[in-house]
Amino acid sequence: MPTSIVNQIAIAYTDIGNGFPLLLIHGFPLSRKTWEPQVIYLSMWMRVIAPDLRGHGETQAPLIPFRINDMALDMLSLFDALGIEKAIVCGLSMGGYVSLALYKLAPKRVKALILANTKAGTDSLERRAGRYAMIERIQKEGMEALAEEQLPTFFYAHDTSAELNSQIRAIIRANSCKGAMECLRAMAIRPSSINLLPNIQVPTLIIASPEDQAIPVSESYSMHREIPRAKIVLINNAGHLVNLERASEFSAAVLDFVQFVLR
Ligand code: MLT
Repeated sequence: MPTSIVNQIAIAYTDIGNGFPLLLIHGFPLSRKTWEPQVIYLSMWMRVIAPDLRGHGETQAPLIPFRINDMALDMLSLFDALGIEKAIVCGLSMGGYVSLALYKLAPKRVKALILANTKAGTDSLERRAGRYAMIERIQKEGMEALAEEQLPTFFYAHDTSAELNSQIRAIIRANSCKGAMECLRAMAIRPSSINLLPNIQVPTLIIASPEDQAIPVSESYSMHREIPRAKIVLINNAGHLVNLERASEFSAAVLDFVQFVLR
């Protein structure tokens, strides 16, 4: 497993394929394993980099609290370590929060953005309270409590997705409690990126699944309205993890957009 020490953390990542780099940033509380279908397919066409965010997968959780911005800084340090000047940045859900933070920090290093099942605004008060309640539950019950809460929103076809459910449960349970608790805090206090949207100067693809229970499709429509030159692709019959449940449609939408950006 390749790792790179960035910001005193050993970041684990997959780096495969040749050509223009595409960075895939996973959601919470997952890992780069959730990009497997895209890594396999898209690396036939381009260089694909899929890191484990801090506190997830095989990347360490730092001892001190962190913010979404720190995850974006990790991504930029990884670019430096891998000799990447500019990449197409694709983030799903929390990965989208990190992608927007990365763009805010270093717009010149982003060739294009792909924002999948994510939003630009902050948490509602209720959502924030739910995150703090979950931190307490993780302290008492461990990662299974988090898996129980998150899994029902991840897939649309509950009956046909048993295999995916058990793979994702294993990914969640393998993550560290500390990493998950810090991430919940980081998401609860994340700043809004709404003011950034009209200033995004790069081609942007928004991917949304209308049946997603975790992030309402209205969030995607409002990003589409606010970001100049944004395109939107809707993928039906998918839950929150649209890239897994509708893997080939998702990968095809990304490839189509990448070819448009690089043409
Ligand atoms: C994710 O999938 O990354 C999370 O659902 C994002 C969130 O909890 O806001």
